[in-house]
Amino acid sequence: MSRDTPPVSGETPPGPQGLPIIGNKLAFVRDPYGFMTRTARQYGDIAHWEDVSGQIYQLNHPEYIEHVLVQNNENYVKGDDFQNILEPITGNGILNSEGAVWRRNRHLIQPAFHPDRIRSYAEMMTDETEEMLASWADGETRLVHEDMMTVTLRIVARALFGVDIDEHVDTIASALEEFMEATENLPNLVLPPEIPTPSRRRIRRSRERLDSVVTEMIEKRRADPGEDDVISMLLDATDEGGNAMSTDQIRDEVVTLLLAGHETTALSLTLTTYVLSQHPSVEEDLVAELDDVLDGRTPTMADLDDLTYTERVVKESMRLYPPVPGIVREPVKPDIVGGYEIPAGATVRMHQWVVHRDPRWYDDPLAFEPDRWTDEFEQSLPKLAYFPFAAGPRRCIGERFAMLEARLLLATIYQQYHLELEPGTDLDLMATVTARPKNEIPMTVHRRSTE
Ligand code: HEM
Repeated sequence: MSRDTPPVSGETPPGPQGLPIIGNKLAFVRDPYGFMTRTARQYGDIAHWEDVSGQIYQLNHPEYIEHVLVQNNENYVKGDDFQNILEPITGNGILNSEGAVWRRNRHLIQPAFHPDRIRSYAEMMTDETEEMLASWADGETRLVHEDMMTVTLRIVARALFGVDIDEHVDTIASALEEFMEATENLPNLVLPPEIPTPSRRRIRRSRERLDSVVTEMIEKRRADPGEDDVISMLLDATDEGGNAMSTDQIRDEVVTLLLAGHETTALSLTLTTYVLSQHPSVEEDLVAELDDVLDGRTPTMADLDDLTYTERVVKESMRLYPPVPGIVREPVKPDIVGGYEIPAGATVRMHQWVVHRDPRWYDDPLAFEPDRWTDEFEQSLPKLAYFPFAAGPRRCIGERFAMLEARLLLATIYQQYHLELEPGTDLDLMATVTARPKNEIPMTVHRRSTE
């Protein structure tokens, strides 16, 4: 680590004391954002606490985070804390797998995210958005997060699997939704995975529903191979021994991409509409740029270089409201971080939410200021002081896809509509794998005058 490396201390880092047995689990689950933020501000760059699953090390300095995710990444796996949550639905897909299986499948899927391929998705992304907007009526109240979840699900399915999932959209959306809700359930978080809680039974049912749809998608592609969609690529793939991938593994990759590829982008859009509704002057500047660059046209790939303020709005929104608020890793062998030894098998937590709001890197960190994202500012920022898509080999495979989608959708929506948050709506976010709003985000949509 380049940061002055203190001598290795034989002690554990400072941190909050918890209750016997469950440690700080309840405190974390009750107020995750408050807990992680207080822990960082009170105990410094590395803090230690315990919960039911064991020893937790919370890293709050960008260089420590870079050490774990990038420099020494080979010593880390995602670990049970993360994998047990996702396994029931995404199985052994690339978000969850490790070692040779992860490496091979990431490599196989990567071509679908080649920059040229990503660019070719732009028109379909705006077509889907236009279709959504055509169903909005001036003055009506929309549940924005639901709308964003539907449009991003349709987009990822068409882009990666070349299928129109019209007939299945409700089944997939409701199964994934039910699953994400169940991941928040307290008994699920504290009881061992083998205990069949009611929400675990719900997860099993959603998986069965998803399985039938996804298996049908795979069988259709097997019967009628596409040119370069991800399912056809996976069906074609063979290992060194010439063996094809099993249907189960293909299913896991498809469900992983459907889930990872729509929930997070939907969140980034929902949270951006929320934060814009609280900052009318930023919305004004955004609309001024859209009018200036697009003059009423639907945005295209070629416009993106000129939509610089739109990009800053997206970046700033993901700083203040990172759709993935924290990530976890587990060291395989003991590691030294910040002068402390982290034992093998401990949980290492790194929170975008905390680092993105650290006043050492961001002046007035709670203010929503897209203009802070100048080139000079970005160059001066420590590398991992901004990591909405993580970093290192397990960095988000869909980052370019997501950034394209977020800018195009935001531009398409705001040049046509002003979104007004229903008075009395609070933004209360969950904090497991993603930062989902606990309640609906109702917004009245006002069509902008085109004169
Ligand atoms: C704003 C949108 C998005 C955000 C904030 C985001 C964030 C992240 C983060 C933080 C990780 C690392 C998780 C970890 O290390 O535990 C990740 C991984 C991943 N993301 Fe995204 N993501 C977004 C959009 C997408 C999209 C659009 C796709 C696919 C179409 C996608 C697919 C994946 C996959 C497959 C992984 C696992 C990669 C691996 O482990 O090799 N994500 N994402």
